[in-house]
Amino acid sequence: MYICVCKGVTDRAILEAVSQGAERMRDLKVNLGITEQCGICACHAKRVLDQALMRETPAQPPVT
Ligand code: FES
Repeated sequence: MYICVCKGVTDRAILEAVSQGAERMRDLKVNLGITEQCGICACHAKRVLDQALMRETPAQPPVT
């Protein structure tokens, strides 16, 4: 699904960027061009980024 229509960026592209180290919206802007034009994609891109980061971060073991 397209997240940023202006730059033709899909949710898969964001997931791939996260798997390669992207952690912030700034990373997506620099690497993919997200929010560089109209900026309408910002909220949706942030949501996809947050979900991708949660998947990338391994669960913390319980503190004993
Ligand atoms: S939809 Fe992303 S900058 Fe316009």
